[in-house]
Amino acid sequence: MIQVAPSVLSADFGNLAKDIEMLNGSEADLIHIDVMDGVFVPNISFGFPVIKSIAKVTQKPLDVHLMIVDPQRYVSQVRDCGALIMNVHAEACTHLHRVVQQIKAAGMKAAVTLNPATPVIMLEDIITDLDMVLLMSVNPGFGGQSFIPGTLKKLRQTKKLIEASGSNATIEIDGGVNLETGARLAAAGADILVAGSFVFSSADPAKTIAELRRV
Ligand code: DX5
Ligand code: ZN
Repeated sequence: MIQVAPSVLSADFGNLAKDIEMLNGSEADLIHIDVMDGVFVPNISFGFPVIKSIAKVTQKPLDVHLMIVDPQRYVSQVRDCGALIMNVHAEACTHLHRVVQQIKAAGMKAAVTLNPATPVIMLEDIITDLDMVLLMSVNPGFGGQSFIPGTLKKLRQTKKLIEASGSNATIEIDGGVNLETGARLAAAGADILVAGSFVFSSADPAKTIAELRRV
């Protein structure tokens, strides 16, 4: 069964506790948290006080996706929020190897994210250090965008790289995930699907999460 990480970017921020309660009672495997700084991506979402508030009302593991420049500045703050996974963009880190070691030294799982235009080969020399690879299937910054089909090829390339290197990294996909794209991603070997608007705009989000886990 594939894992599902609903993105709270599409939740109701005026009533966040209610949406987190829904996730608590759902089959969600992780809660995906999108932090945007208005510099790395053309949008601003929320920061550490909000993540801490979410952590207080859920036992689900937090998967924190930092769409910010120089994310190494915040390793300890992300850890203090209780994050299980810290996702940094390869494009945002000059010294990616050092950042990955810092994340692991802080006791979190290290994940590296690639934008749609960034080739998988960027990860060749760091893949065995990673717990997870996050492939963006939209350009980051907004929920509700359409899935970029070239992600399927990148997913297969990432799988090959992981197998050839003996890495234990899992593969997560983020952007434009629904039952149709989710099924194609599952068939191509994805481990975790992030889904924002598809979950939160559905009539029964908990049921939608359960369906996504069975694509
Ligand atoms: C996009 C974010 C995604 C977003 C996905 O920048 O990283 O996690 O919430 O939203 P959907 O599932 O609506 O494409
Ligand atoms: Zn995300």
